[in-house]
Amino acid sequence: MSGNGDVVLIKDGKRLDGRDFDELRDIKMEVSVLERAAGSAYVEWGKNKVMVGVYGPRELHPKFLQDPTKAMLRCVYNLAPFSVDDRKKPGPDRRSVEISKVTSEALSSVVMLERFPNTVVDVFIEILQADAGTRCAGLTAASLALADAGIPMKDLIASCSAGKIQGQVVVDLMKEEDNFGECDLPMAIIPKKGEVVLLQMDGKLSRDEFKDAYKLAYDGCMKIYDLQRKTLMDSMKKFVGEGGIENGD
Ligand code: CDP
Repeated sequence: MSGNGDVVLIKDGKRLDGRDFDELRDIKMEVSVLERAAGSAYVEWGKNKVMVGVYGPRELHPKFLQDPTKAMLRCVYNLAPFSVDDRKKPGPDRRSVEISKVTSEALSSVVMLERFPNTVVDVFIEILQADAGTRCAGLTAASLALADAGIPMKDLIASCSAGKIQGQVVVDLMKEEDNFGECDLPMAIIPKKGEVVLLQMDGKLSRDEFKDAYKLAYDGCMKIYDLQRKTLMDSMKKFVGEGGIENGD
């Protein structure tokens, strides 16, 4: 968030990629994309490409980390070295540790961890291509992958960001807007309850701007939720259509 006033981000009332202020980037979602994971999802969100694999629940080692009252939900968010313009050094850094932590906390609010004592559910979020908003795309895909794994959940988590560019509050910032805009406000919600489980802010907003950005991000999350449900329904229909249940698969 440099807030560089010289870079033109809005022209004739449209954003650089032709979007309106309240318009999301194009989004594609798919589940059951990995054979060896318990559940998986692939999401393309604008130029972001995200793959998530879920493993478990399985017994947690070392044993002293086990909790007899619930499972541990462990997320690893990884930005691939080739996912960004300047090659990223492989391995965890402060940013990925932070994103892994907030993601696992958001997901833990819906996964029924108490059903699986002493175990761990591993969620691997691989960002193959990054163009801003990867934590939202990662969370959205992770929630789909958990559902695909058949792990009991109270609801999905839907995530989307809003922010401010050239003094204008907009939804779902892409890379140029994130780099040269004034603020980014990623959010994640439990849609059925309308409860916010992640809200971060990078940059500055006035109180009124914050209200507008909050509403845009929230409405964005609800649009994502509709897409997530449709993706899961389509996958279920395909499974039943292929005789999955009759075959006892
Ligand atoms: O991706 P998200 O918006 O959730 O997180 P961010 O920390 O605000 O990063 C914004 C964008 O900066 C990422 O999506 C990447 O496109 C880019 N980035 C990068 O080019 N190199 C990095 N080491 C980290 C981020």
